[in-house]
Amino acid sequence: MKKLNGFEKLKTSVFISGKGSNFYNLIKFSLKKNSPIRIKLLISNNSNAEGLKYAKKFHIKKKIYNYKNRLSTEKKIISELEKNKIKLICLAGYMKVLSKNFIKSFKGNILNIHPSLLPKYKGLNTHERAIKNKDKISGCTVHFVNSKIDSGKIIMQKKVRIFKKDTPKSLAKRILKQEHNLYPKAIRKLFSNL
Ligand code: GAR
Repeated sequence: MKKLNGFEKLKTSVFISGKGSNFYNLIKFSLKKNSPIRIKLLISNNSNAEGLKYAKKFHIKKKIYNYKNRLSTEKKIISELEKNKIKLICLAGYMKVLSKNFIKSFKGNILNIHPSLLPKYKGLNTHERAIKNKDKISGCTVHFVNSKIDSGKIIMQKKVRIFKKDTPKSLAKRILKQEHNLYPKAIRKLFSNL
């Protein structure tokens, strides 16, 4: 792998809606010397998102959009991304669906992390559904974002055992821990030749 310095790293924007533990984890990853990414911009649709505090802590520029109208909001987001020369978007618990147009304008350089073994359990309430179906294994997936929800090409997955005593909450906690390993690994897999 070619040595990366701060200027060669991929300018990255993370999109969040809530707690931001994946955002925090990606920040820590980005600060490693040989990480291929540099997080320049945080986007959130939620002004109360807990994860906004990490932008403050690590001096990352943040922008909040209230999404009254998707088309005009996305236009504003695209212009902010261009202004900051963003080359990669990492969705991390972003609960808004991006339009076909937005995805096209970003030429597929959008990744997402999802708390299930896709193609199983696209959408919401993945842990409830896995437990209800008496699955023995669930997990998480990092994938490219395309215009259909949770359906883009899979980059990496990690399996997690479901135990009899698991509740959606306990399973979510165990899977989230694995998400924190998987997202950086998937980014490395894609960009380690930079
Ligand atoms: C994560 O479990 C992530 O996989 C999930 O939201 C959580 C965000 O946690 N994403 C989705 O469900 C997207 N469909 P975080 O805010 O602590 O990173």
